[in-house]
Order: sequence, then structure tokens, then C-alpha cells
Amino acid sequence: MTQHHPDRTTGEPAHWWRDAVVYQVYVRSFADSDGDGIGDLPGITSRLPYLRDLGVDALWLTPFYTSPQHDHGYDVADYRDVDPLFGTLADADELVARTHELGLRLIVDVVPNHTSNEHAWFRAALEAGPGSPERARYLFRDGRGADGSEPPNNWQSVFGGPAWTRVEDGPGEAGQWYLHLFDSTQPDLDWRNPEVGDLFEDVLRFWLERGVDGFRVDVAHGLLKEEGLRDQVRGDEAGDAPHAMVERVVQDEPMWDQPEVHEVYRRWHKVLADYPGDRMSVAEAWTRGTPGALARYVRDDEMSQAFNFAWLLAPWSAGAFAEVITTTFASLEDVDAIPTWVLSNHDVVRHTTRYGGGPQGLARARAATLTMLALPGASYLYQGEELGLEQVDVEPAFRQDPSWFRTGEPGRDGCRVPIPWSGSEAPFGFGPGTDQPWIPQPATWSPLSVAAQTRTAGSTLELYRSALATRRTFAHTAGDHVEMLDLGEDVLAFHRGPLTVALNCGTAPVPVPAGEVIASSGDLPGGVLPPDTAVWLR
Ligand code: BGC
Repeated sequence: MTQHHPDRTTGEPAHWWRDAVVYQVYVRSFADSDGDGIGDLPGITSRLPYLRDLGVDALWLTPFYTSPQHDHGYDVADYRDVDPLFGTLADADELVARTHELGLRLIVDVVPNHTSNEHAWFRAALEAGPGSPERARYLFRDGRGADGSEPPNNWQSVFGGPAWTRVEDGPGEAGQWYLHLFDSTQPDLDWRNPEVGDLFEDVLRFWLERGVDGFRVDVAHGLLKEEGLRDQVRGDEAGDAPHAMVERVVQDEPMWDQPEVHEVYRRWHKVLADYPGDRMSVAEAWTRGTPGALARYVRDDEMSQAFNFAWLLAPWSAGAFAEVITTTFASLEDVDAIPTWVLSNHDVVRHTTRYGGGPQGLARARAATLTMLALPGASYLYQGEELGLEQVDVEPAFRQDPSWFRTGEPGRDGCRVPIPWSGSEAPFGFGPGTDQPWIPQPATWSPLSVAAQTRTAGSTLELYRSALATRRTFAHTAGDHVEMLDLGEDVLAFHRGPLTVALNCGTAPVPVPAGEVIASSGDLPGGVLPPDTAVWLR
């Protein structure tokens, strides 16, 4: 099929999402309309002009559905309603309408691997007891050992500790166990039960009818588990990867990336195709096999895109970046899909901090972003990265990440601090309240606010704005072919159509390649490309 190819006659892409820049909104930390210190849907609606002016094509909202918020909405109690914390269904409709009026698209999150333990289905499952059809929607099993007091298998939760919790099957009577690959408040659904597939088809249709343009699919590689739920054979730990999703992963993975999961996305592909307007889906799939494993999620009859976490996981090294680019394109060749690129999201340490923090971390983050934005395909940005925000060291008393409670490790709250809009003290225009928001913002954020950086020469916000504007001049027409250039082992360099891109990952300046400079992540004094700097030339 040729559906992924751009229309070469008009220069318009065949699909709007093909080379879109998508801005991730972490709903509770973007903008607060009612002063309770927590972001909400009307807050986002009021700030949409900011996103239009930034120059992105779409926004992706993290879950805003009814939820007890044990994992900030990734524990959904009702998939077809809005949590009162964030607003109402009418607010969601208003947000969709306003997004479209401004020429933007809206992607929402869908969380199909697990529900909240407060979902009506899970409550009914507890009520109904072993062997019931209600329990058969989840993965309840008897325990091991003479009295069933050992978990049914050795699987660990991504958030730490065992992936099983035991329930009472009568007052004071220890009963079965249920599987939760994440927190104990997030019971995993049994996707081999047809009722589960039917529920999610209805959920997709509910939001498609309300006008959303696509779905970000949470834990897309987790829905089906290997039948029999056998023990995992433990191999070497994954090393010091910067992400909880991969830190605890071992080699043998009967809980992830099972072949049957693709049937789900074939069905969803057909559901999306029932609606006009080129609706899309993007997989969050932390596959760890060959790059081909990820490519399977974007076959023609499955999802539109999958997050390319290899780019985010690459260390600061020209060779490592080049390797990711090359293997990404090679892995997608057979499936005729287009890549995505991402450096930050709500689950990982912000890339300014990953690259060392301080002025050097910021310089590197700006350079990596500029490089990413030149690559063919879609780029995903995470709120606050356009301000150059760093990971915050959140005081333990304010931490809310379930992985903190399960492991005592700092967790992900530090990249989820509400963003600064204006003013010299907290809450920096985040909302009408005068107090600190749900996680305190550092006092040092005043010069990083949107207002402080707007029209400030050299600011990170102005870099993003101008890079996104310049990207529009070539994104549809520069083609998909990337030709790697050899400018020495410390420099990542490539041609893409008329564009030349160079990123200096070394410690010494290098000559700027030939051409007219159309963007750079920092100054180019005397015609050289300093360390930690990227440039686009034509
Ligand atoms: C989301 C996380 C969430 C987890 C469980 C992830 O992949 O991005 O924020 O905690 O799924 O739903």
C-alpha cells in the first residue's frame, strides 16, 4: 500500500500525522482554570492559542477520564466520562471544538491494559467471586503453595514489587490473586475475553464520535500475556536505562509483546477507518527485541505510528544517534511506515537533565531537539521542554508516583511539575490560585516562564518557535531519504533533500558544513559549529 507516501504533486502529506509535530499535554500540570492547583480541560482550552503560535500541529492529552488518580489517570474508572478534577464532558467537547477552530488536531490517551480497581467491572469481579464471568474479565488466579499464599507466578510490577495482589473471597477469607503489571490499583484485563475487546471498541467509538483525531495507546505491547502465565526466566538486568519501564525488564518477557496483540490493532484500524478525517493511533510499546518488533505495530492494517524510544534512550554520542537513525529507517522499510521521534515525556527524566543539566545540558537538549525536528516523520514534544525546563528534585512529601510508594525510588514526579507561564513567583500564572500547585514549582523558574522567554532573543522558547516555523518550509517536500555524512566521529551529519544537518557531540569546534544556515541551536561564532550545537543548512 502507498498510504504513507506524501502526495508529491501538492507537497501535502497523504496523512496529516505523517510529519506532524505533536505536543504532549500532561493535563494536571498544563493550566489550571479554577485555582485548585491542578490543571484541567478549560485551562488547556484557554491556552490553545499558545500552542497554535508555538507552531505545533496537534496535541496529545494524557488521561482525563474518571479516575481515583492513583497513577494520575492511568487508572481509569470510567472511560466515557471526565473526572470532575479536570472538568466535564461539555468541557471536553469545547476543547475539541476550539482545537479544530485553531487548525490543530487532538489526540487522547486510551488505557486498555488495565482498569482502575474502582472500575465497575473490577468491583463486580470482587463481589462475584472465583469462577464467575465477572472475574473472567481480569486475570484472577489461585495462589501457589499448599494454602495458596504464594503469588501465581514470579512476575514483577513495572512499579516494583510483585505483580500480584491477593483478595479476600469472603469476610476475612484469603482468596485468589489478580495480576497487575503496574500498581495494585491497576488490575490487568484479560484480552482473551471477547467482552474486553468489545468494551474498548465502544470506548474508541465514543471518543471518535466526539471528534478526537486519534489515540495514544498506553502500554500497547502489554495487552496479551503468554497463555498459561508461566514464570519469567530472569536474565541480566537491563543496566542503567533512564526509564522505569526498562530498568526492571529482563530478557524473557511472557507478559510483553505477544503476537496475538496485533489482532487488537487490526480491529482498531477498522474502527478508525469508519470515521472521516484521517483518524490515527500511536503505540506506546517498549519493545526490547529487534527494532523490527516495534515495526510490527505499524504494519498497514495496524497502527499509524509507534513511539521510537530508541532515540530517547540514546546516549550523547554522534555514533549512537546515527545508529538509531539508520536502524530506525531500516526496520521500517518492510512495513512502509514513517518513523516518529521523541526526547521527553511524562515517564522519563527531562532531556536537559539527562544530558547533564545546567548550561551544557540545555545546550545539548536544544541541539538534540533541532536535529530531531529535521528528520522525516513525526516529532513528539513534551510540555515544558520548549522552556528548557529541567527535572525537578521533588521533595518526598510531595511525591505521588505509585512507583515511589512501591520502591522508595524518586519516580516520575520531577518531570510533571506544573509549567511556568508568567510572573516572578509560584504558581507562575499556572492558575488563578496564589498557592503552590500540586507539586511546588522551583522559585528559580521565573526567567523560564513563557512570558519571560517570549520575544527574548536566544531563549529556548524562541528557538522552538522559529525551528517549527522553518520546519514547515521543508517538512512536506524534503522527502524521506536521509543520507548520513561523515564529518568525523564526533559529528552526526546528514542530508535530507536540500537540507544539511550537523550536530556536534564532541568537545572541539568543527567547521560548519557548506550552505546557508537556516537554523541553529546556538551561536556559530566565526563560522564554526561549537560542541553541543546543531545547525540546519540549505
Ligand atoms: C504511561 C505511564 C503509566 C503506565 C501505566 C505508561 O506507559 O505512560 O504514565 O504509569 O503506562 O498505565
